Amino acid sequence: MSTTTKALSLLLVLVLLLFVSLAHATTDPCPINSIYQFGDSIADTGNLIRNGPGNTNPSSFKNGVNFAVAGSTALNSSFFAARNLHVPATNTPLSTQLAWFKSHLRSTCHGSSSSDCLKQSLFMVGEIGGNDYNYGFFQGKSMEEIRSYIPHVVGAIAAAARDVIRAGAVNVVIPGNFPVGCFPIYLTSFPVKDPKAYDDKGCLKHLNEFAMDHNNQLQEAIASLKKEFPDVVIVYGDYYKAFQSVLRSSKSAGFDKSVALKSCCGIGGAYNYDGKRQCGAAGVPVCQNPDKFISWDGVHLTQKAYRFMSKFLNNIILSQIKCLS
Ligand SMILES: *[C@@H]1O[C@H](CO)[C@@H](O)[C@H](O)[C@H]1NC(C)=O
Repeated sequence: MSTTTKALSLLLVLVLLLFVSLAHATTDPCPINSIYQFGDSIADTGNLIRNGPGNTNPSSFKNGVNFAVAGSTALNSSFFAARNLHVPATNTPLSTQLAWFKSHLRSTCHGSSSSDCLKQSLFMVGEIGGNDYNYGFFQGKSMEEIRSYIPHVVGAIAAAARDVIRAGAVNVVIPGNFPVGCFPIYLTSFPVKDPKAYDDKGCLKHLNEFAMDHNNQLQEAIASLKKEFPDVVIVYGDYYKAFQSVLRSSKSAGFDKSVALKSCCGIGGAYNYDGKRQCGAAGVPVCQNPDKFISWDGVHLTQKAYRFMSKFLNNIILSQIKCLS
């Protein structure tokens, strides 16, 4: 090869490289191509059913994996057994979901180191922890006892985040709890006579304060994680504020204010919810227009409410993982 040809081919390589990196920069402004989700029924899209004798069709994990299972807890089942609390045999705590993740990683990240393999992944560590408290509340434990679970639950969530970061995660979202005092299931199950127990939106104050207690401790844990891993993006997913923004703007968002705290799918009582006849049970009706409701079944939200919440959250989350130009 002559010197000129050599110079020309070198130039060509340079131009090609530049072109490739520019094309990459313009077509891919967000560094995320897969999502790994840990959690409970807030994120489960069918794992609880698959976990049983469900279908075993192989799935594509090209864009990540959803490990969330309905009813799951942050803490191991042994924590509840030690406190005489019954948790279902299907409980798939964070530790189990993490074990699934690690086994998945061994089969997908071969060849490249797992940290390279996970650079373009977003990790959702939660929402989880809500059930840890639910089992306490619905099995008659006192508020004070349940409050004592918070450091354990937060510790388990932080430990899970640490685990995925050590495996190579560089974008981690850790969501907090909802203001459960606004949920039909809690409003129905723990009614209070004194009107002062309710806030101006009709939510039970002491239950929202409990959720805030969890969220404050979780945010402290996130602050320590950020110090421990300064190169990792760790974002608090403020589901509490996101939900409140939906509730506050309910009318302008097209929700029907008169049913803001009622479930769409359900029956009976002031909140269209009956723990003995839940959504899905025979004879339990579904509302005409779910888009007018915030609560779907008394425990989970309608798609419309989630869409509004995600608009609120995406602005915060995507800017921190540098996905907004
Ligand atoms: C939870 O259980 C897993 C698997 O059995 C175990 O490895 C882990 O140490 C347990 N965690 C706690 C906090 O007890």
